[in-house]
Amino acid sequence: MKDFTKPHRISSLSEYTTKYDHSVADPEAFWEEIANSFNWRKKWDKILEWDFNSPDIKWFLGAKLNITENLLDRHLPDRGDQVAILWEPNDPKERPETITYKELHRKVCQFANAMIANGVEKGDRVIIYMPMVPEAAVAMLACARIGAVHSVVFAGFSSNALADRINDCDAKMVLTSDGNFRGAKTIDVKGVVDDALQKCSCVEKVIVFQRTKTEVHMEIGRDLWWHDAIKDMSDQNEAEEMDAEDLLFILYTSGSTGKPKGVVHTCGGYMVYTYYSFLNVFQYKPGDMYWCTADVGWITGHSYIVYGPLLAGAATIMFEGVPTYPDAGRFWEVCDKHQVNQFYTAPTAIRALQAHGLEPVRKHKLDSLKVIGSVGEPINEEAWHWYHEQIGKGRCPLVDTWWQTETGGIMISALAGITPNKPAHASLPLPGIQPIIVDADGNELEGNNVEGNLCVKFPWPSILRTTYGDHERCKQTYFSAYNNMYFTGDGAKRDHDGYLRILGRVDDVINVSGHRMGTAEVENAINEHAKVVESAVVGFPHDIKGQGIYAFVIAEADGIEEEIRETVSKMIGPIAKPDQVQIVSGLPKTRSGKIMRRILRKIASKDTSNLGDTSTLLNPEVVEDIIKGSK
Ligand code: WTA
Repeated sequence: MKDFTKPHRISSLSEYTTKYDHSVADPEAFWEEIANSFNWRKKWDKILEWDFNSPDIKWFLGAKLNITENLLDRHLPDRGDQVAILWEPNDPKERPETITYKELHRKVCQFANAMIANGVEKGDRVIIYMPMVPEAAVAMLACARIGAVHSVVFAGFSSNALADRINDCDAKMVLTSDGNFRGAKTIDVKGVVDDALQKCSCVEKVIVFQRTKTEVHMEIGRDLWWHDAIKDMSDQNEAEEMDAEDLLFILYTSGSTGKPKGVVHTCGGYMVYTYYSFLNVFQYKPGDMYWCTADVGWITGHSYIVYGPLLAGAATIMFEGVPTYPDAGRFWEVCDKHQVNQFYTAPTAIRALQAHGLEPVRKHKLDSLKVIGSVGEPINEEAWHWYHEQIGKGRCPLVDTWWQTETGGIMISALAGITPNKPAHASLPLPGIQPIIVDADGNELEGNNVEGNLCVKFPWPSILRTTYGDHERCKQTYFSAYNNMYFTGDGAKRDHDGYLRILGRVDDVINVSGHRMGTAEVENAINEHAKVVESAVVGFPHDIKGQGIYAFVIAEADGIEEEIRETVSKMIGPIAKPDQVQIVSGLPKTRSGKIMRRILRKIASKDTSNLGDTSTLLNPEVVEDIIKGSK
């Protein structure tokens, strides 16, 4: 099998060091060499232009391309009959579906033509609200083919959250399904879209993929079935020519303030970086079977189910179900069934499965695994060791990959089997990535054994370019905390060996089962309840989810805890439901009226022995009451 990726796969520690040093000394030459391996309609006039203060970041200026020509057409001569996507359905008794590169190419072209026939043009925004079926990937790639900007919304979000996202990006089309099979449940999907669209006037067409065959309402003139839309369409499509800096997609993510923001990624840089990071972190080799268990609604699904693997000509598994259906051995059963070589999941799934004991693991061989990976939140040492020993059998390198929606791709991680593994440490930056640890004033903390805030001091190709429709917010959130640096929002430590350990968020973001949740966002949802006066939300340590959500609420009525949880579910989605709701008489505030979250965090974590200085509080007496009533 011809291995076109070989020149870019680092194969020894010394090569990593050489490449890393080169990438810092001459970043433009470093990335140019990798970019040269893609098909461009026209090459760049300049590699990089950047200014972190505006921010204004451009890679491969003047270059023209279509990313789908690089992840489909480019592979057809040599790899056309290889598996591109292997789909494992929710029900293990249903047949998996194998889609080769040739077939995927045809499906994408055909659906691209259907979208054009239904009025979508280059630059239009298209919302994808779909279950984990191959058509979700086809939908993303068809958008990219015609130059439409996709915005995938996780199908667990509520109609309110969906409507906000549709309106924020002024989407013209929604791609969805009738329903969604998840574990033992069949979930309504189209009904959520119908509800959302009552609040959106921008959407002209809705294309509905039939998955569950449940009866749904079809609005005449607006809604059409996927199978009808593609019926008379050609399976050939001339890809739209895109500028390297044209938008590829928008993905909404939570921040510490206000409503979710639309992180913007562009075509050229995202392509180069997801390919390169995929190849090196997972050490993917032709013929391997790769499986990332994420949902396409999150950045992990974008970069490491769809774009990165397909750019590398890999075989990528899409899984529709959940880790515990029909039992807690499902992941391991699928690993054996499809002879998975690289397996990539989230610490929350590992902890949940660990809680089921070893019985479900022992039934399976897991001998095809070569590399295991983790993403989304800090992996605690106990889960790390269980994963490494019980799943990786002590022989598979475990890559703990740190990155963010905003970074587009993996930033800090071991390269499997190449750079050293250290429990609970993301470890070393990828070539081209220059992370630094700074103190509160932005001074770089050099050397080992230092702890502070994690920043990046030089751009990489897949850094976010803006937040959709609100550039100022992008500047404020990521580029204003420290001069001339990208601020991640995470704390980090460089240990005595020089390895980086991510310590978690230092802002008001809670990481629940690897899903980012802004405390302000949850508070806004709680405040929608008619009897709620004020609320404050904090995170607390949770055995399975990593962090749980604890809400302190001032309310005009008692006994409404469950109603409050339901309100959040309705406003955002079940993933944002607070684990604890405590009705309180007051919230600890400073004299300027700011809620002292530090105190609430300690109470929620049952760590009340030392609450620190409460003398600056306007109302110190409420603290005792809150402690007494805490759960
Ligand atoms: C956290 C997910 C520790 C971190 C790809 C980051 C991690 C946020 C890790 C981004 C890791 C992600 N170790 N923490 N390996 N990976 N995080 O945007 O706090 O959904 O800022 O991207 O998840 O979450 P996002």
